[in-house]
Amino acid sequence: MSVENVAKHPIPPGFEDALLLPDGYAKMYAESVSDPEGFWRREGRRLDWIQPYSKVKDTDFTLGKVSIKWFEDGVLNVSVNCVDRHLATRADQTAIIFEPDDPKTPARHITYAELSEKVNRFANVLLSQGVMRGDRVVIYLPMIPEAAYAMLACARIGAIHSIVFAGFSPDALANRINDSGAKLVITADTAPRGGRRTALKSNTDAALLHCSDRVRCLVVKHTGDQTTWIDGRDVDVLALMEQVSPHCPPRPMGAEDPLFILYTSGSTGKPKGVVHTSGGYLVYAAMTHQYVFDYKDGDVFWCTADVGWVTGHSYIVYGPLANGATTIMFEGVPTWPDAGRFWEVCAKHKVTQFYTAPTAIRSLMGQGPEWVEKHDLSSLRVLGSVGEPINPEAWNWYDKHVGQGRCPIVDTWWQTETGGHMITSIPGAIETKAGSATLPFFGVRPAILDASTGVVQQGDPAEGVLCISDSWPGQMRTLWGDHQRFEEAYFQQYPGYYFTGDGCRRDEDGYYWITGRVDDVINVSGHRMGTAEVESALVAHQKVAEAAVVGYPHPLKGQGIYAYVTLMNGVEPTDALRKELETWVRTEIGPIAKPDLIQWAPGLPKTRSGKIMRRILRKIAEDDFGALGDTSTLADPGVVDELIENRMNRA
Ligand code: WT7
Repeated sequence: MSVENVAKHPIPPGFEDALLLPDGYAKMYAESVSDPEGFWRREGRRLDWIQPYSKVKDTDFTLGKVSIKWFEDGVLNVSVNCVDRHLATRADQTAIIFEPDDPKTPARHITYAELSEKVNRFANVLLSQGVMRGDRVVIYLPMIPEAAYAMLACARIGAIHSIVFAGFSPDALANRINDSGAKLVITADTAPRGGRRTALKSNTDAALLHCSDRVRCLVVKHTGDQTTWIDGRDVDVLALMEQVSPHCPPRPMGAEDPLFILYTSGSTGKPKGVVHTSGGYLVYAAMTHQYVFDYKDGDVFWCTADVGWVTGHSYIVYGPLANGATTIMFEGVPTWPDAGRFWEVCAKHKVTQFYTAPTAIRSLMGQGPEWVEKHDLSSLRVLGSVGEPINPEAWNWYDKHVGQGRCPIVDTWWQTETGGHMITSIPGAIETKAGSATLPFFGVRPAILDASTGVVQQGDPAEGVLCISDSWPGQMRTLWGDHQRFEEAYFQQYPGYYFTGDGCRRDEDGYYWITGRVDDVINVSGHRMGTAEVESALVAHQKVAEAAVVGYPHPLKGQGIYAYVTLMNGVEPTDALRKELETWVRTEIGPIAKPDLIQWAPGLPKTRSGKIMRRILRKIAEDDFGALGDTSTLADPGVVDELIENRMNRA
């Protein structure tokens, strides 16, 4: 992707009066970084505090004593901020629109008054099961309103939720239940998606075989499908909600008390439990939701992510509800019953902001613009993109066919770890360039460092690894149960900086262009996968001796998963075995981890000390073996020729 001489898109008509930014982006940004203390002291007031904070920022990126605290002595309750405080003015306004998988099933509109009742009842159900402040609750639910109720109910009583994406396998679920030490898991009978059903309860049954028998299971009977039932362990949550009181007093929580844990992939096999706390996270989620989407009263906001990812946490539930918005929860998929589903929902609910991933845009682009043109998209005002770099082709298609040239596109770069948007355009305030996330959000101080020397690259243009040089309120605080790994993963490589794991260029205009991960993490359809996770799943198969996994460019998914597999002595490499390994990885981790290409590798390129040279494997997978670089340290250079010879045909 060329970053030279890319023209800026002018701000479309209707956005000229700079909205929330009477003084413009540059002035407010300058204030936010020159006086973070004063800036965030003011911004923190967007929440209701039970006890106001006197301290604002207390953060230290020094290796060995990394510590991040915001609004430390403030006391609040997150569910009160997302629900109760809106009741006086918007009890009858829709908080959540639930759009079911099947378009023939009517949508449900849940008002703030109803949301309040459900959250209170759900919180009382949790209390009745012995869940206490600080206890962990795993949520393994599809995109149904009960997922939001469960999150807010945890927040109400001070329990820490950890959502596991409903596409993850029983093994992945069990690992997360065990690592977090959860007391309780909340699931549903089955989950309809794209006309098919996932058996979540039976997945949970399978997971719980590997967990303490004290873990209880709350089941949302969503479809009414038959499931197994273990009396004493399984609880019908909807039935119990009818029996408990509709009032549950909110627990006053410290700003730095954990709100949730969310597991994400890192460069080693074991997923990392990213911890976010209450005050700073909510300030940041609410503020970014307001500015980046130009959110205004009366808007209907739709983020198509799943609550199993951080995008769903911050921009389906916490950010929108903290702002008193109407937020859509969509149970379905973009291409079922047909490729017009997204646009049909936009037209039906008069969506004003639409936020999705480049992979979805690319797949819909392939179906032709007629699917978009069938629907009235005149309500749309702002379009968003998240999860991976958006290629200019997809950006332009999105702009032309969905936004009809009149909706600013916000390409939002951020991470599970950052809690909210970090580098992004702001409607009406920042001109866009197709493929660039543009400029840092208020209070965010990006730095581009030379990857090998760690020297900060001053001036424009610049290229290197992306770091952040000071804290912001939405930053993760630690890794669950492993503060040392937190420091090592994010603060060790470039001392004094938070290291994002992404490569980046800054052009002549100071615009940022994310070039992708520089670590052993790949981005498949906007989902983050650790190559080591897929490798350990593969080597757990009895016929596999060794495996190395890398990413390669994939036209729809952004990156595809390319696996080099060495079989045990005497095992025949057959197509049937290839299928078996694909299924194996699906069941070990989940469908999103299924390798796209498996190459049988009699040997892997290794250094004399036995380290796999992944750089070479990446090049072969990318079909770029003209530039293999230095192979002189290989123990057996012949291995490389063999791999090139038998490389897999890329899709
Ligand atoms: C990684 C974080 C944060 C929401 C969903 C993903 C990549 C994310 C963009 C973007 C280029 C992006 C980065 C980042 N990424 N958004 N707009 N442009 N790359 O969260 O699973 O924590 O993944 O996704 O590589 O590090 P995540």
